Amino acid sequence: MLKGKKIVLGVSGGIAVYKAVELLRLYIKAGAEVHVIMTKSAQQFVTPLTFQTLSGNPVHTELFDLFQEKEIGHISLADRADLFVIAPATANLVGKVASGVADDLLTTTIMATKAPVLFVPAMNVNMWENPIYRANEERLKAFGYRFMEPVSGLLACGWEGKGKLPDPEAIFAETLTLLRPQDMEGETVLVTAGPTREELDPVRYLSNYSSGKMGYAIARVARQRGAKVILVTGPTSLCPPAGVDVCRVTSAQQMHSAVMKYVEGVSIIIKSAAVADYRPQARSQEKIKKGDVGNLVIHLEKNPDILAELGRIKGRKILVGFAAETCDLLENAERKLKEKNLDLIVANDVTEKGAGFEVDTNIVRFLFADGRQEKLPQLSKDEVAHALLDRILQVKKAEKGFQA
Ligand code: PMT
Repeated sequence: MLKGKKIVLGVSGGIAVYKAVELLRLYIKAGAEVHVIMTKSAQQFVTPLTFQTLSGNPVHTELFDLFQEKEIGHISLADRADLFVIAPATANLVGKVASGVADDLLTTTIMATKAPVLFVPAMNVNMWENPIYRANEERLKAFGYRFMEPVSGLLACGWEGKGKLPDPEAIFAETLTLLRPQDMEGETVLVTAGPTREELDPVRYLSNYSSGKMGYAIARVARQRGAKVILVTGPTSLCPPAGVDVCRVTSAQQMHSAVMKYVEGVSIIIKSAAVADYRPQARSQEKIKKGDVGNLVIHLEKNPDILAELGRIKGRKILVGFAAETCDLLENAERKLKEKNLDLIVANDVTEKGAGFEVDTNIVRFLFADGRQEKLPQLSKDEVAHALLDRILQVKKAEKGFQA
């Protein structure tokens, strides 16, 4: 994912330095070339040798060290980097950069680079909330520096609140966002994912095999490409992608309400959720007992067809549906495309090996409103998501050209 990318990882002093070690490991695993710069205080927590061993490169610590400058000077580091990530970034470091102070190797190199810089602060909650720190962060943001918010929890200093360094996986995901072309910047994408559960009684429900992997991949990739993403998700065991607004629902009716709440402010809607078409007519307050009768009859009533309703009110929004089929793939998908007034439908035969529910890959066909069709080979769900977003941007561009 990061092959050929040069990342400078700046590490300033705080208890969270140990998480920077794990972050470095993720970068190396993804194929990046990483150069680490440590401040003096960072070296109080973890030795440079740890970072040197994992990165395979000398760790840079001194501005005026002749040997380090000869090997790879700080200006060369600043010039060659595709991205700077400062994790953890202390209040002191952020304050120094915000004031234009460049009195050590890390601050000097940050000042000298034209690469994007991502600060990942970690500190005591009172320092984080201190108006002096807040003003420094805002000042740097105004200059185009990027920040990730710390997360809440029990802090090393004993206080509880915002100030913990986010998990290395979340920082890694944000890194991908910064390195990808931001071709979806300005778009707000509403993605639905996962199954719905229709309760029968307090212990049973009707549902399907959707794991949420397809929808979560779309949300993750859209975010990485710069979109603002709202993910309305049924129950899944997946971690939501970093930087995405998540709304959790259980039933089709709840998904309907959530989608209708967000629809106004979005430009693209992608409905990959596997929504139950029917729900039990009545939910039993108590667990249904086995009883004497051999068969149990459950009466079902129709759920709202969320996609069809969106098709009626979509206006200029791009509306994308999925079709999960077990036979007559194209005929069924084509009918849904027309009946639900979609711009594009993604058809998958869920009986095909490597496609549909639960697996990490999918085999899809795109059917467009203008009659075009396109078959994709078996791809990872992230790759399908990228291909889908590419096509959506093409449709948007064509519509713009048509209107102009
Ligand atoms: O989650 P995974 O395990 O990764 O699996 C991925 C997937 C198989 C769930 C996904 O690729 C997929 O096909 N999603 C659509 C599943 C589905 O419900 O298909 P459908 O053909 O029944 O519905 C057609 C479209 O109408 C879908 O966009 C669906 O979200 C929408 N719908 C359906 C019923 C309903 N009451 N409201 C809806 O909005």
